[in-house]
Amino acid sequence: MTDAIKRREFLAAATAAAAGAGLAGCAQTPLAGPTPASTQATDAAPPRAPGQRSMRGLTFDTRGRARIAIVGTGLRGRAVLAELLTIEGAEITAIADLRPANAALALEDIKAAKRPAPAVYTGGERDFERLVQRDDIDLVYTATPWEWHVPVCLAALNAGKHAATECPAGATLEDLWALVDAAERNRRHCLQLENCNYGYTEMLVNRLVHAGVLGELLHCEAAYLHDLREILFETRDEGLWRRGWHTRMDANLYPTHGLGPVARYLDIHRGDRFDYLVSMSSPEAGLSAWRDTKLAANDPRRAERYLAGDVNTSLIKTARGRSITLQHGVSSPRPYSRLNGVQGSKGIFQDYPPRIYVEGQPGEETFGPLDPWQATHEDPLWRELGERAREQGGHGGMDFVMCWRLVQCLREGLTPDFDVYDAAAWSAPLPLSRISVAGGSAPVKFPDFTRGEWQGPNGT
Ligand SMILES: NC(=O)c1ccc[n+]([C@@H]2O[C@H](COP(=O)([O-])OP(=O)(O)OC[C@H]3O[C@@H](n4cnc5c(N)ncnc54)[C@H](O)[C@@H]3O)[C@@H](O)[C@H]2O)c1
Repeated sequence: MTDAIKRREFLAAATAAAAGAGLAGCAQTPLAGPTPASTQATDAAPPRAPGQRSMRGLTFDTRGRARIAIVGTGLRGRAVLAELLTIEGAEITAIADLRPANAALALEDIKAAKRPAPAVYTGGERDFERLVQRDDIDLVYTATPWEWHVPVCLAALNAGKHAATECPAGATLEDLWALVDAAERNRRHCLQLENCNYGYTEMLVNRLVHAGVLGELLHCEAAYLHDLREILFETRDEGLWRRGWHTRMDANLYPTHGLGPVARYLDIHRGDRFDYLVSMSSPEAGLSAWRDTKLAANDPRRAERYLAGDVNTSLIKTARGRSITLQHGVSSPRPYSRLNGVQGSKGIFQDYPPRIYVEGQPGEETFGPLDPWQATHEDPLWRELGERAREQGGHGGMDFVMCWRLVQCLREGLTPDFDVYDAAAWSAPLPLSRISVAGGSAPVKFPDFTRGEWQGPNGT
């Protein structure tokens, strides 16, 4: 065992142990160790242990079935449950939540949909360890606070179940490697259910860029810019845990909503990969100001100190030389945006609102609407599911399309659209931006989670 692997396993174990010690609240941190120094080697890719094999192109072994367990039935878990309950062939066989009231709400939804009642686990924050042992589960989906994504996925993978997680998949490089290794060791997929990859516009733009409409791709813009101040200070749901992350580190805390779609445009792990990033944060002001003006003088939250800068900006360079700006900002008044931009050698697309300019189009150098491209470049999934998705699906329908596609991949035994290497790479800017910011915006290398297999197609 190399020192790097020993250290990685120690940190993963320490994280799991910390989580097990009851650190689900926002007052404590399950992250191991001090803020890493910018000089540390982040791109080390330890060799595969004996018995581990690549997950690239692996098909689901669940032909005909999609038996899903949900760990975390809060706002997001129940939103995804609502989608799954409308999809033929999706069975919810077990649910878990440490808050019995939230599990009860999910149970009511399942009964209202006239689906069989699932097994319910409400025996505390590690009761998912009993849930994953069941033999009527194909995939365990976790919509818990971020600190629990890795422990739940590892438990599922090690129990021989496929795993799917909300974003980000993990918050340390050690944890991201632990997910990769556990997936490879157990031959089970570990997916990030990144709903933004299934957005109408994102899927249309993905087809445009792969049809060469924008020419050679040069630069992309990705972001999560969402005024969450009110939500972060609520005394329920995300207000109970999400603000805590702002007290622990200065980093891009939520990279994947913007980066997932852009990774698809750029064929990340299908011909290119993220090579390194540099990151810089603005001062913090938004959460302090909110706290000072909205909370009572004796509210204990007034003692909190927020480390995360309000706007974090990272620049990512890919192995093929393309560049990406990646931003995070949830503490300032502003309209919502994931930026979602792509500049090619023949044109540019920008979102919020969607607009496109292709060299030679009428109107000289002015953007035109995306609508004329719908007839030729709409994604077939949206053509087939669009009406249903828009009618019932959350987030403009992308949640329904994502769930429908997951169930299709499970039932038809397909290779999933994204794999554990994608989950790890899309989430890696969280720990890497933290290191870069702490090191004065020093360049920080991405690990190659594919261990050299990023050049070809993945079989989807
Ligand atoms: N993809 C999206 O569009 C989207 C939208 C919202 C939230 N999310 C993500 O979904 C996740 C959950 O967010 P949310 O808004 O539902 O938060 P939430 O606080 O409403 O729900 C979290 C639930 O997890 C439960 N929980 C906490 N620790 C647990 C444990 N150890 N075992 C079992 N249950 C546990 C809580 O009791 C709660 O019911 C987060 O990762 C968040 O970032 C994604």
